[in-house]
Amino acid sequence: MKRTWWKEAVVYQVYWRSFFDSNGDGYGDLEGLIQKLDYIRDLGIDVIWLNPCYESPDKDNGYDISDYYRIMDKAGDMETFDRLLHEVHKRGMKLIMDLVVNHTSDQHPWFIESRSSKNNPKRDWYIWRDKPNNWRSYFTPSAWEYDEQTGQYYFHSFAVEQPDLNWENEEVREEIYKMMRFWLDKGIDGFRLDAIALLAKPKGFPDAENPYDIRYLTNNPGVHDYLQEMHEKVLKHYDIFTVGEVAFVSPEEGLKYVGEDRNELHTLFHFEVCDEMPTWDPIRFKQIQKRWYEGLWGKGWNSQFLNNHDHTRQVTRYGNDKQFRVESAKLLATLVHTLPGTPYIYQGEEIGMTGVKFDSIDDYNDIAMKNKYAEEVAKGRDPKEVLESLQLLSRDNSRTPMQWDDSEHAGFTTGTPWLKVNPNYKEINVKQALADPNSVYYYYKKLIQLRKQNPVMVYGTFRDLSENEPYIYAYTRELDGVRWLIVLNHCDSDNVYTLPEETSSASRRLLLGNYTDVKEEGTTLHMRPHEARIYALQ
Ligand code: NOJ
Repeated sequence: MKRTWWKEAVVYQVYWRSFFDSNGDGYGDLEGLIQKLDYIRDLGIDVIWLNPCYESPDKDNGYDISDYYRIMDKAGDMETFDRLLHEVHKRGMKLIMDLVVNHTSDQHPWFIESRSSKNNPKRDWYIWRDKPNNWRSYFTPSAWEYDEQTGQYYFHSFAVEQPDLNWENEEVREEIYKMMRFWLDKGIDGFRLDAIALLAKPKGFPDAENPYDIRYLTNNPGVHDYLQEMHEKVLKHYDIFTVGEVAFVSPEEGLKYVGEDRNELHTLFHFEVCDEMPTWDPIRFKQIQKRWYEGLWGKGWNSQFLNNHDHTRQVTRYGNDKQFRVESAKLLATLVHTLPGTPYIYQGEEIGMTGVKFDSIDDYNDIAMKNKYAEEVAKGRDPKEVLESLQLLSRDNSRTPMQWDDSEHAGFTTGTPWLKVNPNYKEINVKQALADPNSVYYYYKKLIQLRKQNPVMVYGTFRDLSENEPYIYAYTRELDGVRWLIVLNHCDSDNVYTLPEETSSASRRLLLGNYTDVKEEGTTLHMRPHEARIYALQ
């Protein structure tokens, strides 16, 4: 298999508005990120993925862009961005930017022109129809919005304020490629391509049988033509890394995006776990891992992540954030860093930050949650019940400010934070983590070091030894005669695991574990709650 830097890399996602506020306006900013770069570097990170910081009315926290060539005031300015890039590179790290080109803001001059009249030259830059079909969007009951000025509907896959660009229009594509070159020529190291599977729309927009199953928004014929053109005209001319956000794909379809012979993208995020598995489901999780491994291995590259700015923090959603928070955070980290694919860390995950429950809908900001709340309440449902039903998966779970210390607002800002800080910041914060040698933070650091020293962790073949076990997940990674065994007890109680024949005769050396006193007991492992172990076998 071809070895590349981005297969070996560990990526750290910075949701800058919640990372560190340098000027007291309550929003994190690029200057704040610069001030914390040593923290990120010390963890061992190779690549930073920066969420969108372009000019934006901020209806969807930067995913509604009104000027691709400017930095939004809350984040800083272009001079600060250039300095950020320089400082990242100075520390031996790389920076990838979010690329949001399925849609713009409705305040983008292109859309303002497009909506101004039916024969405006930019009319065709967006998607206009006389009649809507029955599709829902990600954030609203209809994917179409009526525009009085011209008496037509425009199409939006997300919020009303995020009209979709018409990728069939060549001028649109050329403008986007030009903009991509602008950023790449500055020296950024790649893109995370937002909603990239949505670029192509089906001819004629036929009604869906079940409008609630929004798969129809994604993977429509033509999407690969656009990506191959983008590769040909832009991507292939730079030594960069690309990761596409590709919802609702099977490994077979996924391979079309990332196959090494396809000339499209390097890697993808599929969402079979984060979008489609609401709570921990061990057998299903194992099947997903196995299918994707078998589908991609040797042909294309996967990503590993269990949370990001759209998905509730992993220790809350897939672990135990109460009784076993530290053990559980470490177990999930072991999983993400030892399964095949490039691992992602979402800011705060490395100190075991948890999700949050606010008492009032007014304390939430997430447009997806707020729209859904309004839709359900309008149907006459009890508001309290609706709030409770939306809390676990609200995107604000992961968007609360980074917890730096136990001072007011967790040391995130001297002003009023744009989103409330999680009340547990006095116990869970970076200062505490750095002072405790057994913290989640130092465990991440060790995992990352292991990856740097052991190619087996990146390039080793994968074999699940525990397909039908409900609590224990045991698998091997193997490369050039080096064999590792990973055993995880994803459970609130003790479990015994008897090693299968093929590993029981080998001698084991414990490389890393999340409990300090591991006693080796022959071929039966007595695993404690959320215990994780990585062994080298000989
Ligand atoms: C996916 C992004 O991760 C999410 O935050 C955003 O709301 C949508 N795409 C729309 O851009």
